[in-house]
Amino acid sequence: METLRHVVLLVHLVGFALLFGAWAVEAVNRRYKVTRLMSYGLLIAGVAGLALAAPWGISYDMNYVKIGVKLVVLLAIGALLGIGSARQRRNGSVPPALFWSIGVLTLVNAGIAVLWR
Ligand code: HEM
Repeated sequence: METLRHVVLLVHLVGFALLFGAWAVEAVNRRYKVTRLMSYGLLIAGVAGLALAAPWGISYDMNYVKIGVKLVVLLAIGALLGIGSARQRRNGSVPPALFWSIGVLTLVNAGIAVLWR
């Protein structure tokens, strides 16, 4: 059970890596664009995160406030990706503030995961 939880955590981290990596590629190329890979990463991180939010395969209490905050941040990133792709279809790119918010909020969620004990 513990091993399975670690596998799900690995999937969760792959989702994070895809989302942040896809965003970083656009950022270093100075393109204010949202891509499908960002949405796939968010979906993978979200589904695996929800599976990890249930207390199985662990012997300690979970911090549900922290998990709730992470869920809210994930929904905010999802909304930005949705708004971004609609704007992109119309204008060819997304507003810089929206683009940077996606990367910052992704890092914020990783920071909450690692630093909030
Ligand atoms: C963009 C969104 C997200 C990012 C970047 C992210 C990032 C991370 C990272 C880096 C870890 C590893 C922390 C560690 O093991 O010390 C982690 C663990 C975890 N995440 Fe997320 N996460 C996201 C969304 C979510 C969501 C939406 C949920 C639940 C609703 C969630 C629930 C969890 C749980 C429960 C763990 C701990 C797993 C364990 O120790 O068993 N995450 N997350």
